[in-house]
Amino acid sequence: MKILFLNGPNLNLLGQREPEIYGSLTLAQIEAKVRKHAAKLGAEVDFRQSNSEGELVSWIQQARGSFDLIVLNAAAYTHTSIALRDAISAVGIPTIEIHLSNVYRREEFRHRSMIAPVCKGVISGFGANSYLLALEAAVNDTRK
Ligand code: DQA
Repeated sequence: MKILFLNGPNLNLLGQREPEIYGSLTLAQIEAKVRKHAAKLGAEVDFRQSNSEGELVSWIQQARGSFDLIVLNAAAYTHTSIALRDAISAVGIPTIEIHLSNVYRREEFRHRSMIAPVCKGVISGFGANSYLLALEAAVNDTRK
């Protein structure tokens, strides 16, 4: 199974960015955890980050035929991006929306996700473990 992990804007700042909300691990450290766990589960992963909405859209489009599932932390674009939502719908690759923080405990503008309605499910609030839980969900999904 091949899983594409996509990370949106400002997630390159993890480690120094509001650690009380997002934790103290850097994105590279989270990636290392994901790769280690994926190896145990026999899954292949690609792990990318971009601050650009267009680049994320292009990566989703290009995933068709190469990946079985996308795990997407779209960061702030979660709450605004019709383009990302349309890309997910267009490629038809099962996608899991994830967040480090519990967006429902935060500001009201974070309660709305443009992408959740076209995702298989949402994992929010478990810090770096949100990434590992998504990996487990992807590998263990019995509805496939
Ligand atoms: C986030 C939550 C978003 O609301 C926020 O804009 C982020 C990170 C999270 O992982 O908790 O940048 O996606």
